This record gives sequence, C-alpha cells and structure tokens, in this order.
Amino acid sequence: MAPAPSSTTSAVTLHINGEKHQLTVDHRTTLLDALRERLDLTGTKKGCDQGQCGACTVLVDGRRAVSCLNLAVAAEGREITTIEGMAEGDRLHPVQQAFLDLDGYQCGYCTPGQICSAIAVIEEHAAGWPSAATDDVRPEAGPPPLTPDEIRERMSGNLCRCGAYVSIVQAVTRAAEAHEAAARDDDHAPTAEGAAA
Ligand code: FES
Ligand code: FES
Repeated sequence: MAPAPSSTTSAVTLHINGEKHQLTVDHRTTLLDALRERLDLTGTKKGCDQGQCGACTVLVDGRRAVSCLNLAVAAEGREITTIEGMAEGDRLHPVQQAFLDLDGYQCGYCTPGQICSAIAVIEEHAAGWPSAATDDVRPEAGPPPLTPDEIRERMSGNLCRCGAYVSIVQAVTRAAEAHEAAARDDDHAPTAEGAAA
C-alpha cells in the first residue's frame, strides 16, 4: 500500500498514456523519476537530468516537456504521453516507423525523446507556429516549408551524441510529409452532405 501523504509527500493521480496511476510522491520527485523509478516506464531516458539534452522529453497536454525539469506533483490532471504510448497496438506511430526505416538512431538512447519531440514539432508546424529559423513570421505568410533548417532548429533541444542527425532530419521530413498528405486527404474526404447531393 502506498504510504499516506505527509508534510513532504502528496498523493497524486497521473494520467499517462490513457491510464490513471495513483501514487504518493515526495514533493521533490521529478516527473522523469516518477515515470522511471515508480511506474517502470523506462522508455523515457535520463541523460543530463538538467534540462539540457532532451532525452527525457515527453508530451504534456500534447506539448513537449523535459520531464527532468517538471515535478510529478505539477503533472496531476495533465495528459502525459510517453514513448510507450505512441504506437497503436502493433502499429508504430508514423514518426517511429520513419526513424526505423531511415536509421534515425545509432545507440538509441536519445531516440524516445527525439521521437516525442518530432511528433510535437510536426503538430506545431502544421498549426502554423514559426521558429527562430522562420524568415517570415507574419501570420498571413502561413506555415513555412518544413525545410531541414526548420527541422534542425525545432529539434535543437534534443541532442544525439552518436550524431545520427542526418537520418533524424530525414525521418522527421518523411513523417511530416505523410502527416500533411493525411491532412489533405481529410480535407478532400467526401462529407455526408456531399455524398447525399
Ligand atoms: S535528462 Fe532531461 S533534458 Fe537531459
Ligand atoms: S542514437 Fe545514440 S545518442 Fe542518439
């Protein structure tokens, strides 16, 4: 049974990959340590533990976050997605598949964080968010092309000490193109009204 909360601990409910987890944590416990040490979700990796390498990146309410700099108690009520929650059954997430197909990893240690970041990067770009590499940031200019420079800038918080960057950029490019094609297909899909006309 989990220990009762005290002046230095709190009971929290964490929503992770669609499941609720109840645990009592020391207030200083990071989300990263709660995931790895308490919930055995070891897909999320600890690199620097200082917010500098991106290895521990997860999605919190769909936005990327370095879990080593977030406290578990602050994650209560948020939707957390880790690398374990990306695939649908046996079907990998398109970003995972692209990393696999294009060798976007060598040792693989940074890969879960890279994949979490890439998934959010593709969504951020599709939503029209500019980056520091975007030339024209006026809203009417629309989303910039997701060029290698844009991908490098947007993924710059994730370090890969093996230097698999070339393949990572290729994998993100491929997954982004698939995402855009799927969005176009959705736009052109016949509606119930259109089908009845
Ligand atoms: S372990 Fe969190 S950024 Fe490096
Ligand atoms: S694949 Fe080894 S650190 Fe990135």
